[in-house]
Amino acid sequence: MAKTRTKIALIGAGNIGGELAALCAREELGDVTLFDIQEKENFAKGKALDLEQNGAILGYDRNIKGSANPEDLADTDVCIITAGFPRKPGQSRADLIGLNHKIMKQWGENIGKYAPNAFVIVITNPVDAMVYAVWKASGLPANKVVGMAGVLDSARFQLFVARALGVATKDVRCMVLGGHGDDMVPIVSATTVNGIPVTQLMSREALQPHIDRTRKGGGEIVNLMGTSAFYAPATAAVSMARAYLRDEKRLLAAAAYCNGEYGYKDMFCGVPCVIGAGGVEKIHVLNLTDEEKAMLEKSAKSVRDQYDEMNKQ
Ligand code: NAI
Repeated sequence: MAKTRTKIALIGAGNIGGELAALCAREELGDVTLFDIQEKENFAKGKALDLEQNGAILGYDRNIKGSANPEDLADTDVCIITAGFPRKPGQSRADLIGLNHKIMKQWGENIGKYAPNAFVIVITNPVDAMVYAVWKASGLPANKVVGMAGVLDSARFQLFVARALGVATKDVRCMVLGGHGDDMVPIVSATTVNGIPVTQLMSREALQPHIDRTRKGGGEIVNLMGTSAFYAPATAAVSMARAYLRDEKRLLAAAAYCNGEYGYKDMFCGVPCVIGAGGVEKIHVLNLTDEEKAMLEKSAKSVRDQYDEMNKQ
């Protein structure tokens, strides 16, 4: 029988996985399978059933399943990976490399075998290194594998600037580029409030605390909750999945494969890219200030250090 329904695979049925499933179902983006380890297959099945029942109240109607069997990846259109471990207070994202790298290799291979036509969004941290591991193990084209970080980091900067200026968060537009670490780069020269350069509304000095808070935005939540954020990360990844499935051609900050852009070579790093039916269709290279270029270089160095650490394993 010909395939008629969009199929979304969510690898990792934890905090972000559950919220991803809820969002995909509510938007009726596709049928959803939540994957987890064998020991947590029933947990994944339970979450799936709860969410199907939720649809009877809210009015959406998608099939939602739980599984630990990679063969269920067959015919997947979009795969979002959150499998692995989140940070605990005091841990950096880089501290997770040893734990999460093996899991990325395992699922990268599974995707290459069972879902070679999928668009893959990696969330697991440290995301700039983990997305590379998935891409390598899967053998998928580089434009079909991307890491989620920039949409989330940009949302954090948007919020902090909007609150400081007393304007609506949706009117603040910005891009946070570079690696998803404490030296990520909110691009002030590309930040506007409905088209007005932000520096016309507040001084560069007044922006600095919001840049600093954005850089530590993940850690702020880990310190409060004892684990990572999950609502905004899930919404950010769904906006990328939707851009692909509906060919929206969104210009989003995402960890895309770079082969010379911004001086990055053979690595994934946060850059402004167009996401549509072709996956990552284009990377735009912006005219940055010298200060921004220097900050991006520093951030890229941290990502390269993660690759070195990963390659030792
Ligand atoms: P969680 O602990 O709630 O869920 C992770 C799930 O992965 C668990 O259910 C676990 O059983 C499962 N898992 C572990 N090994 C697996 C395997 N081999 N196969 C399949 N499933 C496996 O964690 P949460 O909060 O959902 O976070 C997931 C990841 O996302 C973490 O690495 C976290 O640091 C990262 N993250 C990334 C962000 C970003 O901007 N890129 C933002 C927030 C979190």
